[in-house]
Amino acid sequence: MIEQEMDFENRIVSPDYNYTEDDGELTLRPKTLDDYIGQDKVKENLRIYIKAALQRGESLDHVLLYGPPGLGKTTLSGIIAREMGVNLRVTSGPAIEKQGDLVAILTSLNQGDVLFIDEIHRLSRNVEEILYPAMEDFSLDIILGKGPSARSIRLDVPHFTLVGATTRSGQLTAPLRDRFGVLLRLELYTPEQLADIVTRSAGILGIPIESDGALEIASRSRGTPRIANRLLRRVRDIAQVEYDGVITEEVAQKALSRFEIDELGLDDFDRKMLTTIITNYSGGPVGLDTLAAALGEEAVTIEDVYEPYLMQIGFLTRTARGRCVTKLAYDHLDINGDCDCSQQKIF
Ligand code: ADE
Repeated sequence: MIEQEMDFENRIVSPDYNYTEDDGELTLRPKTLDDYIGQDKVKENLRIYIKAALQRGESLDHVLLYGPPGLGKTTLSGIIAREMGVNLRVTSGPAIEKQGDLVAILTSLNQGDVLFIDEIHRLSRNVEEILYPAMEDFSLDIILGKGPSARSIRLDVPHFTLVGATTRSGQLTAPLRDRFGVLLRLELYTPEQLADIVTRSAGILGIPIESDGALEIASRSRGTPRIANRLLRRVRDIAQVEYDGVITEEVAQKALSRFEIDELGLDDFDRKMLTTIITNYSGGPVGLDTLAAALGEEAVTIEDVYEPYLMQIGFLTRTARGRCVTKLAYDHLDINGDCDCSQQKIF
């Protein structure tokens, strides 16, 4: 039998942006806080900080958004810029290779502008050092020349707002983290919130959908709007070609089962990960690196992309000694037994 390679990059339930599948995402992005569904605590805080900054006629304090991918960090940075009435510049940690790249960006900003740096934990130390005085005093310390004749000059930059986004706030260096005045954690969405997002998106795209159909898509979207919107488009194709075009609960169920996404939104990889822990490591505990090697996937991807949802639905726990699969997951996979992690915790 030929073993089929798993295509992680094109996984239909991947929360990462996919240029082919998510091309229309821009049209679906809410543009104001009022249009933004869910993340109520984050919205409430932002509303207050934005209002206060506007009242004082100042730029907004630097904001760090953190949490799993696909939850709307880029969208929120656009909303912040719009609500503040300023321009948005978008870049990412890996895209800023040299100090000069960041200097060029910072010196081209206008007063109050929002600079969004995605994956900010991936900035190099060199580049980060330029950012510290820029964030704190809105100035740049630039070294001209090399060796004994090197001189340092100070340049002012406009008062800007840095919005940093990361899936791993723990990986940010302390000096960088400390320079953010506002730290906001994004949470996975509930199925009800996702159903509202699916209904809103269907309205924008002109897709006929029943509320049970929206809830069905929402329940299988791993708490992630990007996945919900992607599944909506895929289900629409099937509704259109094989049914009468309306996404009902039944149409959504049939379509999603065909994509091998189960009723909880788990795909092949999730099931493989859980069954690997169960069969190879008696349900755990197993260390992250060992698990990553067994699955042929990077440890950070497992940690950032796969685990948050499995933990949210109570299928996986992290203990000091490693990852454990819970009884709930055994039952869902129809496997007899239980991991003995719960007993180990007693000792
Ligand atoms: N589309 C993607 N994320 C959304 C959100 N949080 N609210 C409304 N529409 C969205």
